[in-house]
Amino acid sequence: MRIKWQNMSVDYKNSKLVIESGILKEGRVSWKSPSNIALIKYWGKHGVQLPRNASISFTLQNAFTETIMEYNSQKNKSVNIDLEFYFEGKSNPAFAEKIKKYFLSISDIFPFVKQLHFTIRSHNSFPHSSGIASSASSMSALSLCLCSLESQIFGTLKNDEEFRKKASYISRLGSGSASRSIYEKIAIWGHFGEIETTSDLYAIPYYEKIHEIFHTYHDDIFIISQGEKAVSSSAGHALMEDNLYASPRYQQAYQRMHHLLIAMEQGDIERFGTIVENEALTLHALMMTSSPSYILMKPNTLEMINRIRQFRKESQQPVYFTLDAGPNIHLLYPDHIYDKIQPFIQNQLVPLCENGYYIPDKVGLGPLELE
Ligand code: DP6
Repeated sequence: MRIKWQNMSVDYKNSKLVIESGILKEGRVSWKSPSNIALIKYWGKHGVQLPRNASISFTLQNAFTETIMEYNSQKNKSVNIDLEFYFEGKSNPAFAEKIKKYFLSISDIFPFVKQLHFTIRSHNSFPHSSGIASSASSMSALSLCLCSLESQIFGTLKNDEEFRKKASYISRLGSGSASRSIYEKIAIWGHFGEIETTSDLYAIPYYEKIHEIFHTYHDDIFIISQGEKAVSSSAGHALMEDNLYASPRYQQAYQRMHHLLIAMEQGDIERFGTIVENEALTLHALMMTSSPSYILMKPNTLEMINRIRQFRKESQQPVYFTLDAGPNIHLLYPDHIYDKIQPFIQNQLVPLCENGYYIPDKVGLGPLELE
């Protein structure tokens, strides 16, 4: 296996992005950005939001965040970052504090964040309490807004590729998985020696070489529990540092990426499904072998896994599952078997969901600028 040297020279620090006094500084930008589901998982990080291994994901369509960012000149000159945040129409000071910290952390990239007053309104297409990780959609929407704002004020980032690369880099600093939401269909984040253009600093789009069966793949999300997670993803990543299995895990992630890409290029959905299921269970095994150990799966998560495997065996239909860092099940299947598996979904999976709630989703076209 070849491990190539990677280019870590991208540096977006830019002291020129300062608004000169007197020029108009009022406006509005808005983006809709989707969530994504990792097939090879990012689990373990170091430095400034750098992944321990490369990850690949499907960008989703129906699970998204819409963010409107209004800006004008800063009123309260005594604060570093001046912003108000409304989530689902209600003022949310706790989220506002998190965004202030984030803006401060990227203020050498976007010095203008210290010059403006922001009113940010955000809402999700899925209930916040649904247990769906919203950091990928919310942080990517926010980062896309910041890049649009830069473009609007300074006339920069006119090239779509440059725009998205920077948006992905900025998203990564907010939440690693968010870096992948910037691209349609399929994205890879993290340096992977076999693909020269991959980087730990930003994600790249990666659907052109992938068999078209995966371009319309389904990912239905079955909500097993809507409760808050006992251990956050950030805490989970941190626990990987002392996990005895960390090093073999990162090697395994590399090998799985290699094999998964072959399966995806060839349209081999059985091989794809087998790798993806093993990967999901590895993620949860890493949680169980952390110190302290923890379990995010619920009894109905296991019951659903058993039913999916049983159904697959009996019906010979290629339905497979993956899991996020939580109890919910993502059911993966190709579009052409959609009708055939609806009775199984309704009769056997929906009854195991909390309040019968599930979100039919599929591979999507990526973020959309609004207005
Ligand atoms: C299991 O991106 O939420 O979903 O970078 O700390 O914000 P932070 O973590 P986050 O971790 C996602 C973990 C995962 C796997 C994945 O999406 O690759």
